[in-house]
Amino acid sequence: MTRAARLALAGAGAAIAGLVIAMIAGGAAFPRIIPGLPDAGTFTRWGVPLSKLTMDVAGALTVGLLLAATVLLPSDKGMLGKPAAGYVRAAAWAALAWSAGAFFALLFATAETSSMPITEALLNGPYLSHYATQTSQGVALTLVALFGLAIALFSRGAITAGAAAGLLGFALVTLLPPTLTGHAASSPNHNLATSALSLHVLVLAPWVGGLAVLAAHAVRGAPQLDIAAARFSKLALWCYVGVGVSGVFSALARLTSLSDLWTSAYGVLVVAKIVAFVLLGYVGWWHRQRTLEALARSRPRAFTRLAAGETLLMLATVGLAVALSRTPPPPASVPADRAFELLGFPMPPPISVANIASLWWLDLFFALVAAALAGLYAAGVIRLRRRGDAWPWGRTASWFAGVAILVIATQSGLARYAKVMFDVHMIEHMTLSMIVPIFLVLGGPVTLALRALKPAARRGDRGPREWLTTILHSGLVRVVAHPGIATAIFIASTYALYFTPLFASAMEEHLGHIWMTLHFLISGSLFFWVIIGVDPGPYRLPYVGKLLTLFVTMPFHAFFGVALMMTGSLIASDWYEQLGRTWGGPLLEEQQNGGAIAWGFGEIPTLIVLLAIAAQWYQDEDRQARRADRRAERVGGDTELDAYNAYLARLNRADKGE
Ligand code: HEM
Repeated sequence: MTRAARLALAGAGAAIAGLVIAMIAGGAAFPRIIPGLPDAGTFTRWGVPLSKLTMDVAGALTVGLLLAATVLLPSDKGMLGKPAAGYVRAAAWAALAWSAGAFFALLFATAETSSMPITEALLNGPYLSHYATQTSQGVALTLVALFGLAIALFSRGAITAGAAAGLLGFALVTLLPPTLTGHAASSPNHNLATSALSLHVLVLAPWVGGLAVLAAHAVRGAPQLDIAAARFSKLALWCYVGVGVSGVFSALARLTSLSDLWTSAYGVLVVAKIVAFVLLGYVGWWHRQRTLEALARSRPRAFTRLAAGETLLMLATVGLAVALSRTPPPPASVPADRAFELLGFPMPPPISVANIASLWWLDLFFALVAAALAGLYAAGVIRLRRRGDAWPWGRTASWFAGVAILVIATQSGLARYAKVMFDVHMIEHMTLSMIVPIFLVLGGPVTLALRALKPAARRGDRGPREWLTTILHSGLVRVVAHPGIATAIFIASTYALYFTPLFASAMEEHLGHIWMTLHFLISGSLFFWVIIGVDPGPYRLPYVGKLLTLFVTMPFHAFFGVALMMTGSLIASDWYEQLGRTWGGPLLEEQQNGGAIAWGFGEIPTLIVLLAIAAQWYQDEDRQARRADRRAERVGGDTELDAYNAYLARLNRADKGE
């Protein structure tokens, strides 16, 4: 048996051992059977976590293989090298295992919820299809099974770095559906729980999968290990921080007090995970201190052994984590009202400026988005400064103003009241789609990135800078950044959101709400990039064109506002009525206020944009005039002026008939 096969076998053993020990220790292996209540039976009781473990490990492996092919191993002018192409083909098999794991998890979950033996569940088509299409957990597992299959099929033919990168993105998205169900959905603060768990698996998969592939690469003595390990080490540090932060928030969303950590089975398993996490941190540190250096001096032995051991520890921790997801968290004392269930926080008191200013509530997803936007931008500016390059402070100020407004719009009391009052929601919408993007695009993030990022060390290879230019020149960006398309998206999506059931589902589902907020930000940034963006884009509109594009949107916004003010029926009525708010209202009046806000609010950004266009136009004219002057000085006279005078002279001569 090859060394890689031995490592794979040991890895499977470690994962199963971690699962079994934690299932027994946490009590999930021996749940209390209540007489008279149906019991799914031992086979199903172990089938659910084992198939889930297969799904989690195969998913991480698929991500790890595609990551190795796209990021860890050098490519050549967009084409995958030989080892990288081999990993994409291997990803096809891992994705197939992923899909199969999800399918069996679906079968076992069906058997468990119906207390049928698995064979019966398999044969009971109507029940299985009901579970797979009508329950959130069933839908999530069905999506993973189908997407896994699609990744397996597409990986067969992928030979370019671009295609492998696309598959990697798809695989990362495929990790998400299961994180929106299970304990995360039933936890008291389900928004925090789902955001934290989504982030947890998004950073876990490249970390666990990337290391497993790297360890296999090392034990096989495959080429370019030093390059791959050095690149992975940078990525692993960020994943480690992400796993720690998201793990702690996941635990906070499920535990009610610190003492739960030693008084509840769930808490004890969390502590076990924290211990594993610290151990993995120490191993990572040791790699940085010792083994990577030795590897760079062509001595891979220490790195190979430690990476193999680390992979086993990680897979055992994944087993432990699956057992944790099968262990009931300690009961939480939450107000049993519908509003709390829907919002994930108690209904706020009557709205006031003081309450908006004081009732901050952590939206983990957008808090991390804001932190990433601020951190990456600051890192770029610091790198330029260290290099002695200037960067306009106005752009930096504008960027951080945009990020600050984003934080206020998504974390302050404004975000809470936006969930329960339509007119406040409209203020949040307008802020996110108009104000925040204006300040962000005036910050020139792409120009900063292109100046701060170093070109790839190897010719023809793709580092972060090359990937950024590839994306900027891609067909997709050419389409969405076209002024006509960007304007259409900006206008039409507002109508599509509020005059279809989309808004209602965006308010009811946490993922829907994240998508809606992201859409406001992205469609707004796209539109304002086209008209006042500092960064280079595929199209350069003349200033008159920019003004026209801005003015074209105004009647549509006004009409949208008026249409809302005129509507006699309540949008997302189920949502607002279920909340059962006892203060404020009537609901229809708040909706009409929302219309007035949508209509009136547009003036503010229009003014800012007009000022920005005027300033850019003036600077441009001034730059051109100075350039013409410099050219005139260089050729000892103003060629343009000379040419014009010569033309006048010719006219004069013509007049005199000479
Ligand atoms: C600070 C350390 C960590 C903490 C506090 C933590 C906490 C958690 C919590 C509370 C969950 C949700 C479980 C549930 O559904 O109830 C979870 C899920 C998970 N954790 Fe961690 N974790 C940590 C580190 C890790 C590490 C180091 C790994 C693996 C190497 C890991 C792998 C996982 C996996 C795979 C899941 C999803 C399980 C599933 O639902 O299938 N975690 N973690």
